[in-house]
Amino acid sequence: MSVREVGIVMNGVTGRMGYNQHLVRSILAIREQGGVELADGSRVVPDPILVGRSEQKLRDIAHRHDLTKWTTDLDQALSDPSVHIYFDAQATRAREKAVLAAIAAGKHIYCEKPTADSVAGAVELARAAREAGVRNGVVMDKIFLPGLRKLKRLVDVGFFGRILSIRGEFGYWVFEGDWQRAQRPSWNYRAEEGGGITLDMFCHWNYVLESIAGPVRAVTARSVTHIPQRWDEKGAGYDATADDAAYAIFELDGGTIAQLNSSWCVRVFRDELVEFQVDGTEGSAVAGLRNCRVQHRSATPMPVWNPDMPVTEPFRDQWQQVPDNTAFDNGFKVEWEQFLRHVFEEDPQPFPHDFMAAARGVQLAELGMRSSQVGRRIEVPEVSG
Ligand SMILES: NC(=O)c1ccc[n+]([C@@H]2O[C@H](COP(=O)([O-])OP(=O)(O)OC[C@H]3O[C@@H](n4cnc5c(N)ncnc54)[C@H](O)[C@@H]3O)[C@@H](O)[C@H]2O)c1
Repeated sequence: MSVREVGIVMNGVTGRMGYNQHLVRSILAIREQGGVELADGSRVVPDPILVGRSEQKLRDIAHRHDLTKWTTDLDQALSDPSVHIYFDAQATRAREKAVLAAIAAGKHIYCEKPTADSVAGAVELARAAREAGVRNGVVMDKIFLPGLRKLKRLVDVGFFGRILSIRGEFGYWVFEGDWQRAQRPSWNYRAEEGGGITLDMFCHWNYVLESIAGPVRAVTARSVTHIPQRWDEKGAGYDATADDAAYAIFELDGGTIAQLNSSWCVRVFRDELVEFQVDGTEGSAVAGLRNCRVQHRSATPMPVWNPDMPVTEPFRDQWQQVPDNTAFDNGFKVEWEQFLRHVFEEDPQPFPHDFMAAARGVQLAELGMRSSQVGRRIEVPEVSG
């Protein structure tokens, strides 16, 4: 059966996500396994062309992985007819312009979230892609994580009955950068560069909540900057102008209430860096990145409030692990494989994680920030465009 090499321009591969998750863990891993098999038995093998701003960094990465194609000239890369897909993992603010250029060059697009830093920009990308007839997809990695895939399995089989509420905790302490280096890039803490945890995380929460219990219909949020001064990659102090924590209530279709805390100013006393508790009439689950535990209605103990007695029940032991029952591959890679099939199959499956789905996420972030500014609950309209 035939094997076809397909050019993929990868912009932003010198960054954390672009390099680790997309180049190394996804595209190079897919090359290593001989590509992706299509329905007719043929295979497509991604051939990356690295794009970035620093020639030296690109050369180093190319050399490290025996790659030969790299350039600092995006237009030149996009004019190459062997390129089928443009991928973007640049800092958020740089994305919109580059994606529009790639759409104009007739390339299919796959990119990191958020697609833009305003809902108008995100909808404009969706419209441009639709009019150009290019296929488009956005990274929605959280629902490809083992813990959340197990949670979704429970949803699909009706384990919960009616889902009443979802409570989520995401976050960890991000060092300020003075006495220990900050483990996230400094642009994350500058609003003028597309930073801020509300924009960063609400576009994830939108598709996570949609997949568990339905679309978000209203948001009440409080976004704050707890730590107003930080130190950048070069050790220089700067004013943190973006929010570093967001506390939100989301009301979902059908009445489920989700309450999610997102914070880069919290010390972890949990089993995983993100955890969601879902409570339903028939059972509950707590899912993280990898694990998912359940407590069925039939196995629910009867705690009795008595502050005069020491704790008598081992609450955490009263839950049961959901087994993997399969080998979970890297979530970013799994989504890449789905997108490659969506682009190259003769008769492709729809790809739900597209630019319109991404625009709904950006909208939720925008409305969350507005809710915080005006101090009230905001209803979420359908995104159209
Ligand atoms: N899916 C996820 O879980 C996830 C996690 C973290 C970040 N992200 C997203 O991935 C993107 C990159 O984040 P990161 O943490 O890898 O950031 P990073 O700072 O590590 O990397 C950013 C990349 O963009 C380039 N870049 C930075 N500023 C630029 C500019 N002004 N113009 C052009 N290029 C620029 C850098 O050279 C680098 O290659 C962001 O949009 C972010 O929202 C997604």
